[in-house]
Amino acid sequence: MSNRGLEGVVVADTELSKIYGEEGRLVYRGYEIEDLAENATFEEVCYLLLYGELPNSAQLTDFRRQLESERTVPGAVLDLLRLLPRDTHPMAALRTAASALAGFDPDARDMTEEANFRKAIRLTAQMPTLTAAWGRIRNGQEPIAPRDGLGHAANFLYMLTGETPDELRARTMDVAFTLHAEHGMNASTFAARVTVATLADMHSGLTSAIGTLKGPLHGGANERVMHMLLEIGEPDRAEAWVRDALARGERIMGFGHRVYRALDPRAPILRSLAMQLAAQGGDTRWLDIASRIESVMREEMDRRGKKIYPNVDFYSASVYYTLGIPTDMFTNVFAMARTPGWTAHMIEQLRDNRLIRPKANYVGPLDKKVQPIEKRG
Ligand code: ACO
Repeated sequence: MSNRGLEGVVVADTELSKIYGEEGRLVYRGYEIEDLAENATFEEVCYLLLYGELPNSAQLTDFRRQLESERTVPGAVLDLLRLLPRDTHPMAALRTAASALAGFDPDARDMTEEANFRKAIRLTAQMPTLTAAWGRIRNGQEPIAPRDGLGHAANFLYMLTGETPDELRARTMDVAFTLHAEHGMNASTFAARVTVATLADMHSGLTSAIGTLKGPLHGGANERVMHMLLEIGEPDRAEAWVRDALARGERIMGFGHRVYRALDPRAPILRSLAMQLAAQGGDTRWLDIASRIESVMREEMDRRGKKIYPNVDFYSASVYYTLGIPTDMFTNVFAMARTPGWTAHMIEQLRDNRLIRPKANYVGPLDKKVQPIEKRG
């Protein structure tokens, strides 16, 4: 018998994060996610994931400077983006561009740990630049160069929209990045670790991870959540919409999780940010629809005896929409936030590497003989 979906299989020891599925609790290197979201910036969380401890003031200043200095991407990679058809999905564009970066990275082939740390910082810095550039190039606009002095999150919004975000918007983006930075042995992290375990380079691991994150059962869910909210359109239509979809046997995007059997702890943090943004903009429509969906789902799942709760994507969707991020770029936001987690996992994998090579249970036929081609049906 195969273990479908590798559920419950432990494939590595990690010091990066722990998920308490039954309690709905998430810890990065010993720190509760709520504590980090409230009291640390994304840059501090990146440092924590990569180096194992929060930075002191001098270390943070230096780390921020390193990230800032690595934001610019080679002009040739922007030219490559210009060659893509304009309707290329932003995750496909990001996957292609991230892979192409390898050709220009002075450390691409250097697999020493020092070089891998440099690449981890560089790739974390470059992912928002690539995403924002594609957001503009596909509309026939010139990419906006990164701006020194802006934090990682604020700079992304600036490069994407051309406007410097106010404090609430910058902080919201920053917290959303922190919430997505790391999450145990999820599918994309596993893909990254499998790739570098063959001793392929970090850009290959990153490219595998981006491709894996793209799917709607993983990172692609946040985009689908927004489609659902837009399709429902009005709070009063939410209940019937959800009940009809469930009756057709469909899954409601933004609900359910392989590991959490309780509320995903990231969801209420995003809900609170969504409320602050809605209060600032005076529009609670998406929140109202979301809370109606949540209550119908609670009722339906209780009736069916299933522990299905909102996950991180449920509230990230309306937050990103309100921040002016195009819906089809939501998964890119996830990818840029997860880059420190992915790269830290790759470094951890390589410290104590063993090729990851599970087995398959062959269930096909046996004892067949090759027939001459003219005798085959
Ligand atoms: N809506 C309705 N029913 C659901 C949902 C959902 N979103 N998720 C799971 N269920 C039901 C399944 O139909 C299944 O029912 P059954 O036992 O009667 O067949 C049961 O709950 C268990 O579901 P599984 O598919 O076995 O759970 P699994 O651990 O494989 O899947 C997954 C987890 C893929 C996340 C699933 O919950 C899902 O498809 N959710 C919607 C997509 C989504 O939001 N993905 C984002 C995940 S978080 C992230 O990647 C950041």
